[in-house]
Amino acid sequence: RQKERSVMTEAHAYAAKFYHAVLRNTAAGTGAMNYLRDRGMTDKLIEEFGLGYAPARWDTLTQALDKKGYDLSEMDRGGLLSRRHEGEGFVDRFRDRVMFPIHDGDGKIIAFAGRLMSDGQPKYLNSPESPLFSKSRTLYRFHAAKGTIRKTRQVVLLEGYMDVIKAWSAGVHNGVATMGTALTGEHASLLKRYADEAIVCYDGDDAGMAAASKSIPLLENAGFRVRVGVLPGKMDPDEYISAYGAEAYMREIVEGAVSALKFQLIYLRKSHILLEEDGKLRYLEDAIKLVARRESATERELMLKELAQEFGASTDSLKQDVFKIRQQEK
Ligand code: GTP
Ligand code: MN
Ligand code: MN
Ligand code: MN
Ligand code: MN
Repeated sequence: RQKERSVMTEAHAYAAKFYHAVLRNTAAGTGAMNYLRDRGMTDKLIEEFGLGYAPARWDTLTQALDKKGYDLSEMDRGGLLSRRHEGEGFVDRFRDRVMFPIHDGDGKIIAFAGRLMSDGQPKYLNSPESPLFSKSRTLYRFHAAKGTIRKTRQVVLLEGYMDVIKAWSAGVHNGVATMGTALTGEHASLLKRYADEAIVCYDGDDAGMAAASKSIPLLENAGFRVRVGVLPGKMDPDEYISAYGAEAYMREIVEGAVSALKFQLIYLRKSHILLEEDGKLRYLEDAIKLVARRESATERELMLKELAQEFGASTDSLKQDVFKIRQQEK
């Protein structure tokens, strides 16, 4: 077992070098280089993140691994190759994709994500679960962000690989992402050993906001103080940084992240029509329920004042409603 894992790890390091060399030094990598440049990736970032390109052929890596003497069925179990559908043998799992190496907490490469350069499905292909790689335990770039997370006691959670890289280049050195899956309790308790505050900076679209909303109780149950960086107009961090720059992203979105409660109220607004009297009232009722759930009396008081002011209600009447809900839920 241990032996197999170390062979697989070694093969992943080899594959990463291979994909990187194809990107940097071969004609086959030109299209991918142009793609990455168009997306604002500098040479420095390409090196730092070890990006690569998997050629558009069936057996480039397969042959290279074979020549190196690796057992190909083991490489299939490790996720680098796939079994041929017809006939004997193996083929490259990743073909014609920009490659992002994925590391474990110690910095060893254990998997890859490969992005198509044109439209098509799946946009990102991840390595399968393997003896090395478990999605529910892995966070993209945790090994590189760990030091800063520990020092600042703060972690920034992002949705995508590109977002982590762009945020890093904007100065967010405590940013990690899940592998395109929802955040798990395992992720949260791992991170809790290093940080006390989590800043959730998911995409500004509906899916991103829904995921952020779900992550709040999960992170709070793990013991985190949670804030949310809210992006305008369905943008993701990568797009926001390209449009408004690194400094604005840092200041407005990361440092300007709102409290978990504030975010929940912003999110709640999306499902109510506040222009109508009726919609306003129902929003206020739902908002009061969210406020009532908060443990801090100060936080409840401050938010009720804001709500009262905005909706022309008295803070006292809102307080009474909150009191009633808290009594019922005791
Ligand atoms: P870009 O289009 O390259 O900027 O990616 P994105 O990160 O903005 O994509 P999106 O917001 O659609 O998805 C967020 C994350 O979900 C990605 O970074 C991936 O981790 C994951 N994801 C997106 N599409 C797929 C897919 O087709 N398959 C898998 N397995 N994961 C995906
Ligand atoms: Mn290089
Ligand atoms: Mn998204
Ligand atoms: Mn996105
Ligand atoms: Mn994106």
